Amino acid sequence: MRRATSLQRRLGFGLTLGVTLLWLLATAVTALVVEHTLNKTLDSVLEETAQRLLSLAVVEIFNREDTDLLQQVAALHPHEEYITYLVRGKDDVPLLVSHDIDLSVFPETPQMGLRSTATHRIYGISAVSNTFFIEVAEPLASRRQAKWQTLGMLLLPLVVLIPLSLIGIWWFVRHSLRGVLEYRNMLEARGAGDLSQVRGKNLPAEIVPIGDAVNQLLERLRRTLEAERSFTANSAHELRTPLAATLAQVQRLRREVPDGPVQDRAARIEVSLRELSRLSEKLMQLAKAESGGLLAETPQDILPIISHIVDDFQRAAETPLVLTLPNEARVMSSIDPDALAILLRNLIENALKHGQENQPVEIIVSGDGMLRVINAGVVVPREALHRLTDRFQRGKSRAGGSGLGLAIAQAIAVGAGATLTLASPAPGRIDGFEASFLLAH
Ligand SMILES: Nc1ncnc2c1ncn2[C@@H]1O[C@H](COP(=O)(O)OP(=O)(O)OP(=O)(O)O)[C@@H](O)[C@H]1O
Ligand SMILES: [Mg+2]
Repeated sequence: MRRATSLQRRLGFGLTLGVTLLWLLATAVTALVVEHTLNKTLDSVLEETAQRLLSLAVVEIFNREDTDLLQQVAALHPHEEYITYLVRGKDDVPLLVSHDIDLSVFPETPQMGLRSTATHRIYGISAVSNTFFIEVAEPLASRRQAKWQTLGMLLLPLVVLIPLSLIGIWWFVRHSLRGVLEYRNMLEARGAGDLSQVRGKNLPAEIVPIGDAVNQLLERLRRTLEAERSFTANSAHELRTPLAATLAQVQRLRREVPDGPVQDRAARIEVSLRELSRLSEKLMQLAKAESGGLLAETPQDILPIISHIVDDFQRAAETPLVLTLPNEARVMSSIDPDALAILLRNLIENALKHGQENQPVEIIVSGDGMLRVINAGVVVPREALHRLTDRFQRGKSRAGGSGLGLAIAQAIAVGAGATLTLASPAPGRIDGFEASFLLAH
């Protein structure tokens, strides 16, 4: 399955990228507008300067004694010249130049109007019926510098804007999704068997219908499961009386008929009826195990219950049972005593039934509330092990059974918020089987 992407991450990166792109677009447009306006203003200054200078230059040249002599205007005080100019007369003879002029900037013959060379912006104009020409040159470097500086100043805020927008959006989305996160935590925190309604607070309007749908689904699931459980429990209960009555009849029949084929047939019917009655008992246990409410309100000492059950089995079974109790006088657990009894009975019954004959079955309770039932016997393959807790799932054991015992034990473990662990071979041994369960709470 594809890994889901976090909404917070997606919005954070998406919105930051969007803001950055918009900013870059705005920067580009602003830079173009600034460049255009700057060029227009500086060009008009250049034209104005040229016209002013030409009229002054013409008067100056006319007032000279030798009008064809080149004169370089001296600087009033030393400075780097920004705008340079060249005044030429007829036949392109230079008549007046600014003090810091570089003649290679200007063309050989004067040209009119505005134009740009690789390094300069030049404006040319003539006067007195095209007998005097002036060309004014301004270096382009300063215009370019102004353009890049503007661009730099506009891009500078991005350095702050990107991390700020990421942090801001992250925080804002997290804040807005608070209700959804709480809802997720509530769903995660509940156990598998908890089908009660989830009450999500502060959910965004878009998620509320999902919350309602989840609640409806949980309600339907709960009703279906309840119906299934009560059907199982009721049918098993209803079967009890007719089964007991039929069994009594068959036993009477067996006492009345002499040995022979009828006696054998009656014996087989009795065995089948006993199996049926065991199955209905197990079905009732399963219904109880799955019905929930397996935790009592106040914890109680479980050692007497365990000792009592082991004693019960000890009296009936031929195989020895070895019970090891912890040093602690009491082990407290909030598991429902009936549920604990059903669980332990099933585990001991399995150990006696499926374990190696005449090898002792160990029941060990440790001080931390760990209950272990261990028996000797053939190793159950690992792949078969985790399927044994499914309903009606049986192993390779030769002993009879319906395959419900471990399903019941598992349902009780889940209902009590614990885990049933099966191991084969039993830990610390080379064979056998161990079922363990942590009881204390
Ligand atoms: N203590 C054990 N030692 C070895 N095998 C076991 C042990 N407990 C369970 N098994 C295996 O797991 C299978 C499932 O056990 P489970 O208790 O669910 O059913 P069952 O004992 O066969 O029937 P039921 O308990 O309904 O009478 C058994 O058939 C058996 O193969
Ligand atoms: Mg069993």
